[in-house]
Amino acid sequence: MRRDLFAAAAIIAVAERALAAPGAHNGPETEAHRLSARNIVDDIADDYDFVIVGGGLAGLVLGARLSEDANHTVLVLEAGGNGDEFRDRIDIPGDAYYDSLWPTELNWDFYTVPQTGANNTSCEWPRGKVLGGSSAINGLYMNRPGEHELNAWQDLVSDLDGADNWTWDSFYAAMKKSETFTPPVDGVVQEAAITWDASSHGSKGPIHQSYPGYTFPYVGKWSTAAQAAGVPLTNDPYGGQNWGAYVATSAINPTNWTRSYSRSGYLDPLPPRANYAVLANAHVTRILFNSSSPAGNLTAKGVEYTRDGGATKLTVGVKKEVILAGGTIGSPTVLLYSGIGPKDVLSAAGVPIVAELPGVGQHLQDHVSVTVQWTTDNPTAGSLFADNGTETTDPVFLSYVNDAVAYVNASVLFGNKASDLKTSILSQFDQFATSASSDTGVVAGYKAIYDTTANDIFNGPTGLVELLIGNNVDGAIRIGAALQHPFSHGSITINSSNPLDYPVIDPKYLTHPADVQILREGIKLARRIGETEPLSSELKSEDYPGSDVQTDEEWEDWMRGGVFTEFHPSSTCSMLPLDQGGVVDANLRVYGLANVRVADASVPPIAFSAHLMASTYGLAEQASSLIRAYHNKKAPVVTHASSKNSTDGSKNSKATATTSISASTSTSAPSSTSTSTSSASSLNHQPWSFFIVVAALMVSTLVSSI
Ligand SMILES: Cc1cc2nc3c(=O)[nH]c(=O)nc-3n(C[C@H](O)[C@H](O)[C@H](O)COP(=O)(O)OP(=O)(O)OC[C@H]3O[C@@H](n4cnc5c(N)ncnc54)[C@H](O)[C@@H]3O)c2cc1C
Ligand SMILES: *[C@@H]1O[C@H](CO)[C@@H](O)[C@H](O)[C@H]1NC(C)=O
Ligand SMILES: *[C@@H]1O[C@H](CO)[C@@H](O)[C@H](O)[C@H]1NC(C)=O
Ligand SMILES: *[C@@H]1O[C@H](CO)[C@@H](O)[C@H](O)[C@H]1NC(C)=O
Ligand SMILES: *[C@@H]1O[C@H](CO)[C@@H](O)[C@H](O)[C@H]1NC(C)=O
Ligand SMILES: *[C@@H]1O[C@H](CO)[C@@H](O)[C@H](O)[C@H]1NC(C)=O
Ligand SMILES: *[C@@H]1O[C@H](CO)[C@@H](O)[C@H](O)[C@H]1NC(C)=O
Ligand SMILES: *[C@@H]1O[C@H](CO)[C@@H](O)[C@H](O)[C@H]1NC(C)=O
Ligand SMILES: *[C@@H]1O[C@H](CO)[C@@H](O)[C@H](O)[C@H]1NC(C)=O
Ligand SMILES: *[C@@H]1O[C@H](CO)[C@@H](O)[C@H](O)[C@H]1NC(C)=O
Ligand SMILES: *[C@@H]1O[C@H](CO)[C@@H](O)[C@H](O)[C@H]1NC(C)=O
Ligand SMILES: *[C@@H]1O[C@H](CO)[C@@H](O)[C@H](O)[C@H]1NC(C)=O
Repeated sequence: MRRDLFAAAAIIAVAERALAAPGAHNGPETEAHRLSARNIVDDIADDYDFVIVGGGLAGLVLGARLSEDANHTVLVLEAGGNGDEFRDRIDIPGDAYYDSLWPTELNWDFYTVPQTGANNTSCEWPRGKVLGGSSAINGLYMNRPGEHELNAWQDLVSDLDGADNWTWDSFYAAMKKSETFTPPVDGVVQEAAITWDASSHGSKGPIHQSYPGYTFPYVGKWSTAAQAAGVPLTNDPYGGQNWGAYVATSAINPTNWTRSYSRSGYLDPLPPRANYAVLANAHVTRILFNSSSPAGNLTAKGVEYTRDGGATKLTVGVKKEVILAGGTIGSPTVLLYSGIGPKDVLSAAGVPIVAELPGVGQHLQDHVSVTVQWTTDNPTAGSLFADNGTETTDPVFLSYVNDAVAYVNASVLFGNKASDLKTSILSQFDQFATSASSDTGVVAGYKAIYDTTANDIFNGPTGLVELLIGNNVDGAIRIGAALQHPFSHGSITINSSNPLDYPVIDPKYLTHPADVQILREGIKLARRIGETEPLSSELKSEDYPGSDVQTDEEWEDWMRGGVFTEFHPSSTCSMLPLDQGGVVDANLRVYGLANVRVADASVPPIAFSAHLMASTYGLAEQASSLIRAYHNKKAPVVTHASSKNSTDGSKNSKATATTSISASTSTSAPSSTSTSTSSASSLNHQPWSFFIVVAALMVSTLVSSI
């Protein structure tokens, strides 16, 4: 029996999810051949130079890069497990649909509070809770924000020291640094009609960006139909022009068709490093400050965490910095439970105020989405899988994930009515500002983001909506629309003083009328593309929402009842001036704290018109460079560092005195590709054995688990 996880969330009822059970993959052979990351430990030292909170996408980048300086000791604390017992399901790209990790302990499984703009629904918010974080459980789409929106972020902080590091040029270089690009295989190129420009991609980084080894005719027809419906094609969305219709890269290692994520890219291939320790099952509860340090410049001296659900509180000392990488939900939550945040939130929760910082958890922006579905008689990935044929064990087939997208700007959506809408958006600010926050700084920040979105993004080339086509459902094809630059901003707060309690998540979906209009025009365009040749002949009839939904009012009612997250929340520790509710400055330092930074998807103050992995890898790379440069102020001496200088992590008895700092550069990438050199030489690459028993159960996700 097939269960359709995402359809449940999007269409029928969330309750179905509870029925989905873990699959029966059985991979002892795979297990035996798999490398075990050497820096994952059980015992840690008393203190470290750097303590990184969260071993997710960004956290493992920071851990790998900061420990390249053998004279710095580095610890990563991850609340989730190491994920080894789920490794097959993480590794197989298609299992994001067929054997999703959502119903397992690898998902925090948050819910929003009832959304007044969405028929009072509490929306499910999955997040990865495992080494690799959300990059271990997500839908593998890899694309980048555009130059225009990156520079709009930089403009918001241009008065701050360090702002130069957040221009498109430096961010583009940082994104490339994390990437190894491989073009699609022959056959897939033609069938999916893929174009690319290798010069816009990186070639030596730890994360693979490539394409599935298997595809479907409708993928190739997507861009042509989109073009016929008024959305232009793009040849190269990766060099700063992320708009138009195209087939995106996926985070897939094409040498063995496995998921490429922060653990496989930035942790597993590392040689043992005596100065680096990664501790899983370690939930950080609070940052501990030196009470003698001056107010306004508090020094973190340690981090409190628990490995047993709060029964025992452990601490580890911090000699240089705490770096928060808990993600858009986790990082503000740790600050709030540490007493750093808005006064009213902390007092109501009963958490003693350590330093007032009104912006913590504010400015939350998410991509909210809806989807149209057609039946089809043609084979879909979902139907081939459900038929129990040879595909279900074929690694090439199982590398298929949805990847065709389109980013659509205001002039395509609204034509010559775009400027009227802009005028009305600008006139509506005051109405929304009053409910945004009681803090004038946070409101000023909201205004700054709002003005940027209305004046700069709205009228520019950047997509306001993303469209995505997916076929992982048995007998159906879906086209979704997701709002990329929302005017509705929400918040992450807490309502308890117990740091293990979940935070209160309120994205305020569709509370701003412009968001309703933009998403509505987006989903209407999705339907039009489905009704346009050559795609329309692949589809039979629209079964959701169906022909009953035609007028704007009907679309709006239906949308409010059917929204779900595209999984891209951001901006809860926004980089903004302090008097605009900023949480970090342009050097990623938390205001008022001497030695705490944030470096994850919570930092960019505006949403991006893209899925958030590639930009978060770039942000974490850039953060690592800045932090290393700050602590290595003397002229960098390129040397083979000696392990004698790094004794602090030596309680990790498994670690030996190997270093991976390359001879030619002090910022060499952790090696992950089959062509890598120095550190890879210490690895024993084994071919992957595909002994996979695919679950009887099919948990499929919508247009994706995006
Ligand atoms: C279901 C899903 C599908 C997605 N699809 C895509 C996609 O196809 N393409 C794309 O580009 N993006 C996608 N995303 C978004 C992308 O995965 C995230 O934006 C990205 O992983 C954010 O990186 P991060 O480091 O900020 O957070 P995460 O990767 O979420 O890492 C945060 C880590 O911190 C840990 N943590 C949190 N709190 C604590 C604490 N108190 N103590 C210790 N550890 C803690 C968490 O367990 C987690 O491991 C998807 C996300 C989800 C959830
Ligand atoms: C949502 O809940 C609020 C408060 O309970 C109520 O006033 C409102 O009518 C509800 N809206 C819908 C669409 O049911
Ligand atoms: C950050 O900006 C400074 C000043 O422009 C520059 O010297 C430095 O190289 C930049 N660092 C990175 C990592 O881009
Ligand atoms: C706390 O700060 C005071 C004043 O700066 C300093 O003298 C002391 O050594 C610090 N204590 C710790 C544990 O770092
Ligand atoms: C596929 O296998 C599952 C589990 O064995 C079964 O429930 C299902 O009916 C099969 N489907 C087909 C089309 O044979
Ligand atoms: C929006 O997209 C259309 C189609 O590509 C393009 O013609 C137009 O110039 C774009 N608008 C802006 C402001 O770039
Ligand atoms: C606090 O918020 C959480 C998460 O939204 C919720 O489950 C819980 O019921 C709330 N508790 C109170 C007392 O409001
Ligand atoms: C809104 O919610 C109510 C109550 O849960 C439900 O009966 C109704 O069908 C929903 N409306 C839409 C448009 O989904
Ligand atoms: C804050 O404290 C740090 C570490 O003690 C010190 O280096 C820095 O100069 C202080 N900053 C200010 C503004 O006082
Ligand atoms: C630490 O090592 C780096 C090179 O990896 C070097 O640039 C820096 O000067 C060293 N710092 C100290 C204090 O020795
Ligand atoms: C190792 O430590 C010694 C002194 O403790 C220092 O002179 C040397 O520069 C350090 N080496 C590195 C690579 O940091
Ligand atoms: C896939 O190949 C990479 C080398 O490119 C290797 O590191 C990794 O362990 C392989 N994955 C599996 C599951 O064998």
